[in-house]
Amino acid sequence: MSSTHSHQPTADALVLFGATGDLAKRKLYPALYRLEHSGTLKVPVIGVARSDWSDDAFREHAHDAIITAIPDAAATTIEPLVRRLDLVQGDYTDPETWTSLRDVLDKHHSKQAVFYMAIPPTMFPTVAEALASVGLNSRGRIVVEKPFGRDLQSALELNETLHSVFPEERIFRIDHYLGKESVEDLLVFRFSNSLLEPVWNRNYVRSVQITMSERIGVEGRGSFYDGVGAVRDVLQNHLLQVAALVAMEPPVGPDARFLQDEKAKVFAAMRPIDAATLVRGQYVGYRDEAGVAQDSQVETFVAARLEIDSWRWAGVPWYVRCGKGLAASATEVVVQFREPPALLFDEAGGPTPNRNLIRFRLGSNDGVTFTLQAKTPGQHLDSQDVDISVDFAAALGERREAYERLLDDALAGSPRRFAREDIVEQTWRVVQPALNEPGPVHPYFRGSWGPAEADRILGGDHWFTPA
Ligand code: BG6
Repeated sequence: MSSTHSHQPTADALVLFGATGDLAKRKLYPALYRLEHSGTLKVPVIGVARSDWSDDAFREHAHDAIITAIPDAAATTIEPLVRRLDLVQGDYTDPETWTSLRDVLDKHHSKQAVFYMAIPPTMFPTVAEALASVGLNSRGRIVVEKPFGRDLQSALELNETLHSVFPEERIFRIDHYLGKESVEDLLVFRFSNSLLEPVWNRNYVRSVQITMSERIGVEGRGSFYDGVGAVRDVLQNHLLQVAALVAMEPPVGPDARFLQDEKAKVFAAMRPIDAATLVRGQYVGYRDEAGVAQDSQVETFVAARLEIDSWRWAGVPWYVRCGKGLAASATEVVVQFREPPALLFDEAGGPTPNRNLIRFRLGSNDGVTFTLQAKTPGQHLDSQDVDISVDFAAALGERREAYERLLDDALAGSPRRFAREDIVEQTWRVVQPALNEPGPVHPYFRGSWGPAEADRILGGDHWFTPA
């Protein structure tokens, strides 16, 4: 296993597989627009797709995708961008597609391309091997979208196949949560504020909760989602990556390798999820969505308890939950501290102080809130909750969107915000029991917080509702 993930040369071309697909439309063209707008995009962009489109139809498609995502996008930025787009059209199994692609890259004198696979994961091996068949595997790196495999075994096999044509340092695995400023802030906030470190452990922390809730349902992605479910779609990747940033030891330097090494240690110390502390749910109406099986047992919600058996975290429960069709759209981490001794406050049956909380909001209104205790006015030594809260957009200004940052990194050759092989494998190991022994799916209504059964895993605690 290779564990180095070093900086790569700057790219001289971007090749987009799945150029007429959904991900490219929703995320990649808007991100390319933003990079073009800031003057960062300096390379030709070559789309590859099976769709039988002319160059003009392709350019119009990209144009419309940008306008849909960014209604006030500047024509003076869009026009030169879309004019530079080329389309290589052809079947991925046809050798001619690959010689045409190589010809286009030769025309641009490209030696270091980024090959971005915005295609179904089942196609990754085909595309990687076809690139090798025309020698393009030695002329760039690949970016692969999630889900990376369907379970531990398939992830191992996929890594093996990709490694047969690309070395680990030229495989960039996307988890777009790693591209979010708010998620990366977990690392900076923890390790740049020395007041946190002394209490960031099992001596002071009572529990950690991570919630990723989405109001939307599967929104036209039914046929994809019904083959995947919440465990594979977000728990194995986004939620566990967030957990690692909250749990890990300080990396010894900014180099990607140090960061990945510390995350790998968290997962190595994480026990596989105990199927007894796993609850799956499915929103009522999911089976009526287009592309979803009438008798589908696929979960649109999952709650689980994680355990990290390290000196820092042994005994602290980590509760995670994620789902679609829930009451609010939010991603939050809540760190709950132990209660202080109560004798001082034990007057006349008054309330004892509530536990302190630190709430990291990682979604659209990102920021952090410390819930502390302050004296309730009056004669008694009573305390009550007070919040010290900061909204990062207001305090720090607008930040760049995840896909823009990740595309920029992929082009610049920076692997820091991508997932390393061993980490992906470890995360599958952690969720594997949820795949082997999934248990029943409990129905829940849209607009709720998921099935009531999810409370069962908390052992007397309660879920914190996102702010
Ligand atoms: C994707 C999942 O990875 O993340 C989607 O496939 C989910 O199902 C999305 O909706 C959520 O991302 P974000 O950035 O909106 O929180």
